[in-house]
Amino acid sequence: MSWIDGLLPWRKSTRARTASEEKYLYHTAGVSLSERSQEDGETFPRFHATAGDQLDPKRADRFALIRSRLRNAYTPAQPVTDRRMFAGRTKLMTTLIRSIEDQRLHTVIYGERGIGKTSLLQVLAKSAEEARYLVVYVTCGARSEFDETFRAIAARIPLMFHSGYGPTSREGERGDTLLSLLGPEQVGVRGASDALARIEGTRVLVILDEFDRAESEDFRRGIAELLKTLSDQSVRVQMLIAGVAANLTELIANVPSIQRNVSALRVPKMTPAEVRSIVKNGETISDLHFEEPAIQAIIARCMGFPYLATLLSHRSALVAVDDGRLTVNGDDVGIATEEAVEEFKGRISRRSQLQIDGLVRRGQLPVLGALAGAAQSTGGWFNVEDITSIHAEASSIHDAQATIESLAKNQVLIEVGDDGFGQGYRFMEPTVPVYLWLLAARGQYFDHQHPALESVAG
Ligand SMILES: Nc1ncnc2c1ncn2[C@@H]1O[C@H](COP(=O)(O)OP(=O)(O)OP(=O)(O)O)[C@@H](O)[C@H]1O
Ligand SMILES: [Mg+2]
Repeated sequence: MSWIDGLLPWRKSTRARTASEEKYLYHTAGVSLSERSQEDGETFPRFHATAGDQLDPKRADRFALIRSRLRNAYTPAQPVTDRRMFAGRTKLMTTLIRSIEDQRLHTVIYGERGIGKTSLLQVLAKSAEEARYLVVYVTCGARSEFDETFRAIAARIPLMFHSGYGPTSREGERGDTLLSLLGPEQVGVRGASDALARIEGTRVLVILDEFDRAESEDFRRGIAELLKTLSDQSVRVQMLIAGVAANLTELIANVPSIQRNVSALRVPKMTPAEVRSIVKNGETISDLHFEEPAIQAIIARCMGFPYLATLLSHRSALVAVDDGRLTVNGDDVGIATEEAVEEFKGRISRRSQLQIDGLVRRGQLPVLGALAGAAQSTGGWFNVEDITSIHAEASSIHDAQATIESLAKNQVLIEVGDDGFGQGYRFMEPTVPVYLWLLAARGQYFDHQHPALESVAG
């Protein structure tokens, strides 16, 4: 048995491999089928392009070009910033623009990890800039604090828009910003709102992305109070906040009155038509064609998540290209799913891997999938209600509740705690839910598309 056999899910199988398994085997090893036909060791895998994105002229064939285009066609590791690659979301974008432009509301957008919040904000920011808004985009981090965040915002607002200075003042002409007006002392909500109240001659859209990452309760409360203060005055500054949270109250902790002043929009899962247009947009750029079964497989497996849609599209396209084809088929998506499962498995601890293997063997995968879905939807802590909103069937709700209690009790994968809103559960390792999701997606694939492979997947 070679080293690669040790990595493969069907390594214990004694029967001959199917053609599709063979393809996966060699693709995982980084060897294309055409290369495999040569003697082992004769071709050594190489980079196809230089670090400056220039193709190596000695290897610049049609496939190298397509491979390089694929890097821009599907970008699972980055948000979409190019409007041409931004699929769907028309209704949401219209509502968002209306709430900013017509209702002059501050807005909160929320939704699961990887659902497309940052991409939406990036594309919206461009549209707002085209409409001459001054857009200030801030990405929050675990250590974000109010003072430091407000200073970052102030540094982007020129004094030419401050009523006390204006475009013809020396400071305005010099390009000074609001930051130059702030003293060394900590800026609080009052100081921030007073400074913003003096803005004229433009409209400022302050975008705070990844808000849920900020751990400081003071920061979250400070931003909530700032929203409230700004909406009580007629100020030319609007805030747009994005994060993972099941509802607005969790995002803006402890300031219930805020809810009247802000519009809250959930970023929903993508419809099959929207996922299809992700695949199609990439086709246009890459010059590849996805066969209908491949598109259907991506739609079924991504479960409405653009992150998984771009990941599977990119991976399956590479499988086809490595095989010397310009057409992506359903099997390629199957192989891409396997690769993704293996990759995510490598990111979790051995202990969790073994625990999951055991639970899957005992038929618990559907329930684990529901728990993972709940964790994804809240971004961490979740409770039984979150599971029911994902998984509506009465019998499976019961299963899910019993499973989670027993897992938490035995400290398997799940821990129990208080997230500030009552008792909740969460996965001890944050990468486990995505892995479980992919496993569940693969389960769907094996169940519905390739029963022959199901027997060797376990
Ligand atoms: N409308 C879209 N069209 C095409 N691809 C999209 C779209 N929205 C998101 N994606 C893809 O999905 C992935 C995740 O998107 P994004 O980073 O915007 O999600 P997010 O909700 O901000 O995630 P997180 O919660 O981790 O910050 C990215 O790879 C992006 O390329
Ligand atoms: Mg994001």
